Amino acid sequence: MKVLVIGAGGREHAIAWALAKSPRVSEVVCAPGNAGMAKVGRCVPVDVADLRAMVELVAKEQPGMVVIGPELPLSLGLTDELLPRGVRVFGPTKAAAALETSKSFAKRFLQRYKLPTAAYAVISEESEAEEALSHFHFPVVVKADGLAAGKGVVIAKTEEEAHAAIAGLFSGQLLGTPEHSVLIEEFLNGEELSFLVISDGTHAAPLAAAQDHKRIGEGDTGPNTGGMGVYSTDAMLSPELREWIMHHIVQPTLDGMRAEDAPFVGVLYCGLMMTARGPMVLEFNARFGDPETQAILMRLDSDLMEAMEAAVEGRLSDTELRWKPGASACVIASSAGYPGHYRKGLPITGLERAALIHDVEVFHSGTAEKGGQIVTAGGRVLGATAIATDLEWALAKAYEALGMIHFDGIYFRHDIGHRALKEAK
Ligand code: AMP
Ligand code: GLY
Repeated sequence: MKVLVIGAGGREHAIAWALAKSPRVSEVVCAPGNAGMAKVGRCVPVDVADLRAMVELVAKEQPGMVVIGPELPLSLGLTDELLPRGVRVFGPTKAAAALETSKSFAKRFLQRYKLPTAAYAVISEESEAEEALSHFHFPVVVKADGLAAGKGVVIAKTEEEAHAAIAGLFSGQLLGTPEHSVLIEEFLNGEELSFLVISDGTHAAPLAAAQDHKRIGEGDTGPNTGGMGVYSTDAMLSPELREWIMHHIVQPTLDGMRAEDAPFVGVLYCGLMMTARGPMVLEFNARFGDPETQAILMRLDSDLMEAMEAAVEGRLSDTELRWKPGASACVIASSAGYPGHYRKGLPITGLERAALIHDVEVFHSGTAEKGGQIVTAGGRVLGATAIATDLEWALAKAYEALGMIHFDGIYFRHDIGHRALKEAK
């Protein structure tokens, strides 16, 4: 079967890589893809912000399945456009993707079904801020309602900081475009966990859990990014706690969405905070995580295509995914200046040598090919990903690979997985 993967990041490279291993897949087409994905499949240009162009591309390519990587095409309703045309699509409809695309929808949904989440208020203008803030203890979390690529969240330690963040979001100063509504949330303490499941709308199969490192700086300092590194181990989530999350968070969410005529088919990403009160939902995403997917799919021992087909055909209840024991880790190399302004077009060297390390994959995020040379093309450039029998070893291999790769201004955190390693000692 021919599969069309929409997207151009490390997540999509990992998805394309995993799908290409399936005996059920004869061809992977990546739209638009990147220099790494070009080694896995055929890349065709498309603008993932242009719904018409994507629909036309699918009509031309006639794939047996379309897999949508990023949130933008989901939010535009690509799934809704393709399903009536008889195309099989792995990815939720626009209505189901609202779990990610509208934080106020997600919070109201969580409240409606009494699912564990931080206390919150939604305000639609700045003048409501003072009254709303009076119900919270500091620090509070101030969030943009819409999609913000991980950059719309401010943790405000004081009332002044909270007012400044709220004003910045409503005026557009913070994100470039003005927000129509802003969320204020209780600050939760604990370890974060990315808990992803594949869903057919009724049943879910959990993926291996992972932990992301969202801040740019070592020791979790500095501004939030799309994710600077991730690890996944058996030890990070006990089978009992996994069952608890499936029973008390995932299943009620799928049941609720079905009851509201927006069954969720695709990957439901639960961003959890493991608090003293138990796991609580920080956010939902309607897609695979980036860079979680790179680490998670390295551990997958089952056929990803088979699982995606089971999901779109509504027969996931028969599917149990197998995982390689041990650990995996993905360390992101970014351009100097990211998540702010950065340069593009810088030559990348050492990729061939790094690819020779056993059990290492270098997934490309922002790369392009220019005159036979692979160059940087984004803020997050690539993710060295490794699998091993334990986390220490997986990390050592990922860093060994990064030691061989170079581009001008290359930056990566040296402390991915640091907390897990400390706990293990
Ligand atoms: P979100 O986009 O909602 O996942 O928020 C981005 C990041 O901000 C999360 O990964 C957390 O690190 C942090 N965050 C968001 N909400 C809260 C909260 N209620 N309490 C503590 N940290 C939070
Ligand atoms: N790594 C965070 C995300 O994919 O949203």
